[in-house]
Amino acid sequence: MSAPKANPEHEDQLFRLLRQLDQGPQGSQRATAQAIGVSLGRLNALLRDATHAGFVSVGDHHGPDKRQRYAYTLTTRGAAEKNRLTDRFLARKFAEYDAIYAELTGTTLGFNPLTHRNKLMENNLAPIPELYVSYDSAQKMKTEAADLVSWDLTPRQICDLELLMNGGFNPLKGFLSEADYKSVVDTMRTTDGALWPMPITLDVNEKFADSLEIGQDIALRDQEGVILATMTVTDRYAPDKAHEAKMVFGADDSAHPAVNYLHNTAGDIYLGGPVTGIQQPVHYDFRARRDTPNELRAYFRKMGWRKVVAFQTRNPLHRAHQELTFRAAREAQANLLIHPVVGLTKPGDVDHFTRVRCYEAVLDKYPQATTNMSLLNLAMRMAGPREAVWHGLIRKNHGCTHFIVGRDHAGPGKNSAGEDFYGPYDAQDLFREHQEEMGIEMVDFKHMVYVQERAQYEPADEIADKDDVTILNISGTELRRRLAEGLEIPEWFSFPEVVKELRRTKPPRSQQGFTVFFTGFSGSGKSTIANALMVKLMEMGGRPVTLLDGDIVRKNLSSELGFSKEHRDLNIRRIGYVASEITKNGGIAICAPIAPYATTRRAVREDIEAFGAFVEVHVATTIEECERRDRKGLYKLAREGKIKEFTGISDPYDVPENPELSVETENVEVDNCAHQVLLKLESMGLIAAE
Ligand code: PPS
Repeated sequence: MSAPKANPEHEDQLFRLLRQLDQGPQGSQRATAQAIGVSLGRLNALLRDATHAGFVSVGDHHGPDKRQRYAYTLTTRGAAEKNRLTDRFLARKFAEYDAIYAELTGTTLGFNPLTHRNKLMENNLAPIPELYVSYDSAQKMKTEAADLVSWDLTPRQICDLELLMNGGFNPLKGFLSEADYKSVVDTMRTTDGALWPMPITLDVNEKFADSLEIGQDIALRDQEGVILATMTVTDRYAPDKAHEAKMVFGADDSAHPAVNYLHNTAGDIYLGGPVTGIQQPVHYDFRARRDTPNELRAYFRKMGWRKVVAFQTRNPLHRAHQELTFRAAREAQANLLIHPVVGLTKPGDVDHFTRVRCYEAVLDKYPQATTNMSLLNLAMRMAGPREAVWHGLIRKNHGCTHFIVGRDHAGPGKNSAGEDFYGPYDAQDLFREHQEEMGIEMVDFKHMVYVQERAQYEPADEIADKDDVTILNISGTELRRRLAEGLEIPEWFSFPEVVKELRRTKPPRSQQGFTVFFTGFSGSGKSTIANALMVKLMEMGGRPVTLLDGDIVRKNLSSELGFSKEHRDLNIRRIGYVASEITKNGGIAICAPIAPYATTRRAVREDIEAFGAFVEVHVATTIEECERRDRKGLYKLAREGKIKEFTGISDPYDVPENPELSVETENVEVDNCAHQVLLKLESMGLIAAE
């Protein structure tokens, strides 16, 4: 189905009609025709066209006017079209106004015809377009969308959708079409030339993609099944992921968290199309601290804030950050918005609940009249320079005029060769290049250090008497070490309230939960060592210990699974899930499956490291030795072809590249192997003398 042929007059009338139907309640046809300024005949032609294009659905009329047989309601697609036409209508009106103004005065006001921003208001204060339909339409659409094919959004897609719908990703109107995707990846611009550095894509699996038809509307649901939006699928395409990784993240290297996500989590097919917002994702935590772009703009308007400098962070704030943000605000003579990300950040970061409690503690140290804090439900990609520009555009949409960009902004850490992915000032350089076009100014981050003699923080590059003073600094790694080992964190570094919060969530390692994950061939000795280790840990006491042995799990958790790659992955993900829950709750999980695939082991590691240590132990018994032992007689059967897909014989095993420990079992006693693991745990601070 295609939209009716557009000429400006037709478009205007269609726009008025869709707006009228959206606003409901539905009046008689005569009243509708009058409201939109057309004859009854023209109204009927319009309704016919709109119905044909799928913008309007026809049902029976139950109102008092017996002459009217049909009732017309806006469909999902109609609502999206109404939003699109609103933009076009305003753009045309602005252009007309601009022309008249120019004719009368000889100068132009310079209304931007592509946005409906009112220049009489400051740029950052006027409302920006959202993709939500009106409350009434949303109620109707919810019922209508229940019949649509649904896609259950991933946590990352929910974050992306929220910012698409509330205007945080303005000017995007939906998930990227193929042409826009390619253009964003290659040139950092959409096909109509708007600067946009990050591909916002709806990745799905092939099976789901194949079940769709182009032009079809789908419902987008959150993880509890609530319909948040609908999308008209205009595009379905298989991305070149390696190319995307290189262009957007700088290298096709899975050490980069977003590249790893791209290859190992994201679906293989992307869907593109305009989104119609029905409702915001529900957040039960810190509701009062979450603001849409328009809510923040309204707040700035109300408070009379003309200049606002935003500070992006995914870490707890310490004294250096406070000093830095003070300085940035002073330098820009602006108010300060602390704008932490609470969506998805780098794996291993402090969880957002703890961080927000820390931010709230620090907020008291800022002048209330000039500082505000708001939480941003963004899924970060850690894309360094591109991410900085993206963050700037998002802050611009939230009404900010300035943005702090630090050294190595949104850096993902080291690549697989142990080097940084980006240069320390690449993000600042790229931001500077585009800031004028973006309409948000960069305040570059100074690296702050503590000067003991003067008892204050100062920018490292501005200390003239460097050699005569004592400069103190604690790196992020050092802070994590001190927290993990329960060591002192000095007051010059952080606020006691913040340290208390961090310690509450992260007790010293010797009191945290952890997982020991044995991997190796069948018959390598994993279960025997794991059993011995369990007994030793129970003897020590302190934390509950659970053994998730391969055979036991297959009897209880995974009894329906076989040994295909898909089933093995599922089996290991289940083990990982249980182990992560045990770790989260302060227990010790010992897992002993074969776990032959490196990517699955890595995924499990990430799940668990969010809560505690993951200790991978490779039981490195050779396949020859396992086959020689053949305790269960399975190798013989595998050789005879009676057991298919047998690890090491007819199925692959990825030898761990960087396990925390590798144990040899040939000519070594089980007790000694288990003891090696204990020593490793001790060296990692996971067990300690009480
Ligand atoms: S996996 O790959 O991690 O899901 O395997 P796991 O759950 O550890 O199960 C391995 C045990 O199942 C028996 N078995 C097989 N192993 C490998 N390949 C095939 N095809 C197979 N069929 C059955 C084998 O006894 C393994 O037990 P362990 O304890 O490792 O010796």
